[in-house]
Amino acid sequence: MRVTIIINMRDGVDERKIRVAGRLILEGKLVAFPTETVYGLGADALNENAVRRIFEAKGRPPDNPLIIHIADLKDLKKVAASIPREAEMLAKKFWPGPLTLVLPKSEKVPYVTTGGLDTVAVRMPAHPVALALIRASTPVAAPSANISGRPSPTLAEHVVDDFYGKIEAIIDGGPTWVGVESTVLDLTSERPTLLRPGGLPLEEIERVIGEVEVHPAVKGKKVDLAKAPGMKYRHYSPKTPVVVVEGNPEKRLEKIRELVEERRSQGLRVGVMATARVDADEFYFLGSTPEEVARNLFKALRTLDKSGVDVIIAEGIEEEGLGLAVMNRLRKAAGYRVIRV
Ligand code: TXA
Ligand code: MG
Repeated sequence: MRVTIIINMRDGVDERKIRVAGRLILEGKLVAFPTETVYGLGADALNENAVRRIFEAKGRPPDNPLIIHIADLKDLKKVAASIPREAEMLAKKFWPGPLTLVLPKSEKVPYVTTGGLDTVAVRMPAHPVALALIRASTPVAAPSANISGRPSPTLAEHVVDDFYGKIEAIIDGGPTWVGVESTVLDLTSERPTLLRPGGLPLEEIERVIGEVEVHPAVKGKKVDLAKAPGMKYRHYSPKTPVVVVEGNPEKRLEKIRELVEERRSQGLRVGVMATARVDADEFYFLGSTPEEVARNLFKALRTLDKSGVDVIIAEGIEEEGLGLAVMNRLRKAAGYRVIRV
């Protein structure tokens, strides 16, 4: 058991508290902090021992690499060996923001951070607390601050649930506003390749650099995963089984209502997360735009999981804009138990 300090920064950046948190990072400690996407579990990206502790705390396989968070473009040169033109264009347009670029790694970055790869994932987050923390310390390696396999945290409370007593500090910056993790784009292959859909829609990236290849694993195909190590592991799973209903908007709500009746007649308690009201034992309203659904998704999964229902029925949405990231998370959370109507 460690002493975990909870640092309240819900009302904005407090420079005095940031200095304390920055010092912890520089001492090799673990500090969870808010980003615009989800909370991150941060450590000094260039300190092997500190980074090793992230893997231990999360129970994360050592070959699943971490994202390095920077606050200044000059740090990109520190962690990447070369910066292709596409990276410059995308960074200029979308940073700070929910876009992670995979580039050739520099010698400064330890292999522990990159899971043994010669490439490094980098992003500049848009949350003022994250930027202040990095400026007060060093480039920060941070995966999502959840125990491996669980839904990502969008509130400090979620981080407390998973890491209280295991890490040195949790900065509470209130709810994150994107709600799904950053989009991961590989710029070290022949063509720019989407490795993980996320908070920045693919369509926006293509508007800047033209057509992007989509890694087959994004669509749930079983393929060679050397380039996308994050995809071979279980993800986002609540303890409660999840079923996704997707397809035609009217039909899918009808199908959900039907399933609720069916499961309840079997004596099961049913939780529903959907974009319109459905009578069930527990109900979580996801919102009516893809942005709202993205923001509410992980909280809905965690809340329904905690409520003690026997099964969670989740409504799928169209795979456009943020919908691509939402459906990628939802199908994984369901272990690909999907009903199409
Ligand atoms: O929004 C986010 O990206 C959040 C916040 C905290 O910044 N972070 C996050 O980290 O989602 P994590 O570790 O949960 O996901 C990082 C993803 C994983 O799928 C990992 O496999 C991939 O990025 N990744 C990291 N480095 C890579 C590399 N060198 N090559 C390919 N994929 C990489
Ligand atoms: Mg994660």
